[in-house]
Amino acid sequence: MQVHETIASFRRSLDVERASDRRVGLVPTMGYLHDGHLSLMRAAGAECDVVAVTIFVNPLQFAADEDLTDYPRDLSRDLGLCESLGVDYAFTPSVEEMYPQPALTTVAVDALSQTMEGVARPTHFAGVATVVAKLFNIAGQCVAYFGEKDYQQLAVIRRMARDLDFPVTVIGCPIVRERDGVAMSSRNVYLTSAERDAAPTLHRSLQAGAAAIVAGERDAEEVRALMAAIVDAEPLAQLEYAEVVLADTLEPPVELEDEDEVRLLVAAKLGGPRLLDNLGVRVPPVRE
Ligand code: PAJ
Repeated sequence: MQVHETIASFRRSLDVERASDRRVGLVPTMGYLHDGHLSLMRAAGAECDVVAVTIFVNPLQFAADEDLTDYPRDLSRDLGLCESLGVDYAFTPSVEEMYPQPALTTVAVDALSQTMEGVARPTHFAGVATVVAKLFNIAGQCVAYFGEKDYQQLAVIRRMARDLDFPVTVIGCPIVRERDGVAMSSRNVYLTSAERDAAPTLHRSLQAGAAAIVAGERDAEEVRALMAAIVDAEPLAQLEYAEVVLADTLEPPVELEDEDEVRLLVAAKLGGPRLLDNLGVRVPPVRE
């Protein structure tokens, strides 16, 4: 595995691969890798000729009061994991390499960035879209893999790639969970053991929402209320939102229609840490 710290050398290596007609799979991460990240690398490895993983804790997507300095990091372990998965290139730039001067040019994906996560974190998605645009420009033509774990982020990136004509195919991959249903996240290390015990509540609320839809519930507000009540019943959890949206536009429907693909999303604070989770469900046709 080659490890590149500079934009120029990473870009040159991928250009050489493409010149030999090899398909490049790109997996952007902030490191502290877990099985969720590894699943993206495996998907890239199965579908592409070369896999490039980027590891960069992007300051632009953290607000001033967020966990940028505390964000967990372990680069040597991450590189070992990448190597063991057969990753071909790791790109591990410094902040100075990515932002030699403060970025005056940023990428804002309107509307999609302003609901749900965007309410709690108003500058977050511009930070994500900007760094991902940079990574796409650096990596060049490729297939890029992102997790459905960050479902709104995936929608923002898909839309950005389409709106700005990046030569990048964006692929969404399923959420990898712990045995008790908790979605894997680098931030789960922040949880105390009591908070960790309470964490499956999020997944349970999503499952209950999905079960209600499958059983015939068509009122989106009822589904939201059901999910919210389950999270609210957990004393350690502070609900931020429980949403039902259309899977492709993230628009909130009032009445669910036959065959709608919907996404249920929840976010809650468990003590300090914020946890996110989501689940897809297809609205079954009502039988008369
Ligand atoms: P990070 O949180 O490190 O996540 C990197 C990728 O792994 C994202 O696409 C995320 O959705 C995916 N991922 C995380 N947990 C997952 C899980 N349990 N199952 C499946 N996929 C999972 O997301 C970011 O970094 C950053 O915002 C980034 C896109 C790299 C831009 O800085």
